[in-house]
Amino acid sequence: MADKTKSPKDWRPATRMVHAGSIRSQFGEMSEAMFLTQGFVYPDMESAEARFKGEDAGFIYARYGSPTAAMFEQRMCALEGAEAARSTASGMAAVTAAMMGQLRAGDHIVAAKALFGSCRYVVEELLPRFGVPCTLVDGTDYAQWQAAMRPNTKVLFLESPTNPQLEIIDIRRVADIAHAGGATLVVDNVFATPLLQSPLELGADCVVYSATKHIDGQGRCLAGVILGSEEFITTHVHNFLRQTGPSVSPFNAWVMLKGLETLPVRVTQQMRSAEKIADFLAAQPQVARVLYPTRKDHPQHDIAMKQMKGGGTVVAFDVKGGKAEAFRFANTLSIIKISNNIGDAKSIMTHPATTTHQRIGPAARAEIGIGDGLLRYSVGLEDVDDLIEDLSAGLATI
Ligand SMILES: Cc1ncc(COP(=O)(O)O)c(C=O)c1O
Repeated sequence: MADKTKSPKDWRPATRMVHAGSIRSQFGEMSEAMFLTQGFVYPDMESAEARFKGEDAGFIYARYGSPTAAMFEQRMCALEGAEAARSTASGMAAVTAAMMGQLRAGDHIVAAKALFGSCRYVVEELLPRFGVPCTLVDGTDYAQWQAAMRPNTKVLFLESPTNPQLEIIDIRRVADIAHAGGATLVVDNVFATPLLQSPLELGADCVVYSATKHIDGQGRCLAGVILGSEEFITTHVHNFLRQTGPSVSPFNAWVMLKGLETLPVRVTQQMRSAEKIADFLAAQPQVARVLYPTRKDHPQHDIAMKQMKGGGTVVAFDVKGGKAEAFRFANTLSIIKISNNIGDAKSIMTHPATTTHQRIGPAARAEIGIGDGLLRYSVGLEDVDDLIEDLSAGLATI
């Protein structure tokens, strides 16, 4: 019989993802309610005054927080082992708020070069406009991280595995460099998912997600989350979000909340297929290189095994013959769709050089190993044998 004295924090992760953070209304609904409201009614003027003063913890206005978003945030905290979280309208809103909330003119940031294209825009173009220059480093070269530190360095930023070439950065090592220099470390944990890697346990101060990816898992809505200690969120994130307004809609928060319930089942199944597909691709003569974190031939295999519980749901690979053959191959696929999301139940093939990383130009792409033959494959929930047949048919055209 279940021990009723156990608190949610003692539950195992799969249980937390189904139950943590639920707030039931007076109707005792089984599935969490979606509260579509911009505001809240106060019983009297004194209550309104107390809420605005922060003496009463109730909701005030949906831009500041709402019950559905709060349930999603609490469930994310339980999963991540974080003290506090705030949800946002998209993953990019989460990344931007985590940066802008901490920085002011005169500060400096250091970021890994291998970042998602829009994240590179934020650190390379947006922040310098507000007086915050950025030094970009090779994320796997720890001497470069160290050498980039300045007395005014406030934030270090990385994603691991990186998008799209699945490079693995030692989070603990970068966190140590950040803290020794009085800076914080922000980790974009989208590719690992909260199930396979826990950046806060590895020393990061803040974790950000595009919930649009695995957390939704069915390609329906955009959302993001920022997680950290109560102090981090209160000091750097809370007011920035409240006053600038990149809030998640209650509907999107509800979709994400329900998405978390099936996250472990989906990610485990998609990862099993990704492992099989990585091995299949590595054995094909038309494939020049396969990148998958837990394969022994991955350049940072040892770090992946140390800090991740699995290799994830994405496989990157180079086909021989560059862009022409990559296009020919992808245009032949029928089950696997050409698109640019990851973590979806539907398999998705992306050509980063002409889509997600087109903006950074050929020189920057070459520097981070994105060639014209590189494809990023987000493995879905379809039967793996159908996926392998689809890939085989595509490869046969090369
Ligand atoms: C690593 C990474 N970070 C952030 C984002 C941004 O997320 P969103 O599209 O939800 O704004 C994406 C994808 O779009 C991503 O792949």
